[in-house]
Amino acid sequence: MYSAENQLVKALPKLAKGAKDATLKQLFTDHLEETKGQVMRLRQVFEILGEKPTGQHCNGMEGVIEEGADALEKDEEGASFDSGLIGAALRTEHYEIAGYEACISMAKTLGMRDVANLLAANCAEEVAAAKKVTAAGKVILKSAASEPEEPKKPKSGKEKYSAKKSKEDEKKAGL
Ligand SMILES: [Fe+2]
Repeated sequence: MYSAENQLVKALPKLAKGAKDATLKQLFTDHLEETKGQVMRLRQVFEILGEKPTGQHCNGMEGVIEEGADALEKDEEGASFDSGLIGAALRTEHYEIAGYEACISMAKTLGMRDVANLLAANCAEEVAAAKKVTAAGKVILKSAASEPEEPKKPKSGKEKYSAKKSKEDEKKAGL
């Protein structure tokens, strides 16, 4: 979680900078400040555990952030562009919520009340942030749906590669 939050401290300013909608921009900026506070809470957790705040690099968050980076590269306008950012942001929030729920449950099982409370405070902020992004998203998605369909642009090399990989996933599943 510590690595995940630190990665987000780095990634959120890029989402805030990229967002076209002012509300969405503000949400990302606000959540950046919250995320910095979450890093501090996790440092407290390490302190309680008597450990150095290192842990492991979170590959999952790296992947989710990469999806956000892809959304930022999309050659789309206004609401359509923001829709991509919303999808990426919701994935990061829900990925964090899943991680916190697992950690909270472990801390509770081990009888570590203080740790569980710190983790629960972070988790509550993620839930609230996801709700706000969803609410802002409703307005933005509506306007994206009403935008005239732009002529399809040719796929980039990265998009073509990604589509090919998805085809392979389907084949491997063998359904
Ligand atoms: Fe977070």
